Amino acid sequence: MDFFRHSITMDIKVGIITISDRASQGLYDDLGGPALVKASEEYGWKVVADALVPDEKRDIQRTMLEQIRQGAHLILTTGGTGVALRDVTPEAVREIAIRELPGFGEQMRMESLKITPNAILSRSLAAVVEKGLVLCLPGKPTGAVECLGFVVEAIPHCIEVLHEVPTSC
Ligand code: MTE
Repeated sequence: MDFFRHSITMDIKVGIITISDRASQGLYDDLGGPALVKASEEYGWKVVADALVPDEKRDIQRTMLEQIRQGAHLILTTGGTGVALRDVTPEAVREIAIRELPGFGEQMRMESLKITPNAILSRSLAAVVEKGLVLCLPGKPTGAVECLGFVVEAIPHCIEVLHEVPTSC
């Protein structure tokens, strides 16, 4: 695949977290998590954990740290990046992040704006939490998969650097 122009020497393990009050209460089916599982598998990654949590900072942080400590290199979240008062995903991640990687959010918004003007409302971001790369994607399943696709090329190199795997650049 095109995004493997950068040849990766390690297998990428992924944790997926759907962040939604309504899906976690069973009021509707979680479609975002399964969409990200499918996309991850198509990229050749191994999904090692998945979870569904409400829009609560503590739940988001605890689940993310558990998945990273279980060995996930990459955490993909879907939901809670918008402007509703209950949307707290960026705040939850920033509180436990070592650093933010602003280029990911910039790229996601730049490309998404070509698809929908509502992308301006997205606070999608990427950050480093412990040794994990955390990517916070929109709640809409198509939006989450699209946004992942806009940044996928940068992910293997970023993970290698975080795990101190020798790279060619
Ligand atoms: N980005 C893409 N590529 N495609 C989309 O459909 N939806 C937008 C935006 N980004 C969307 C997108 C919408 S409608 C919102 S409200 C924000 O992401 C935030 O979504 P969230 O609150 O569900 O996380």
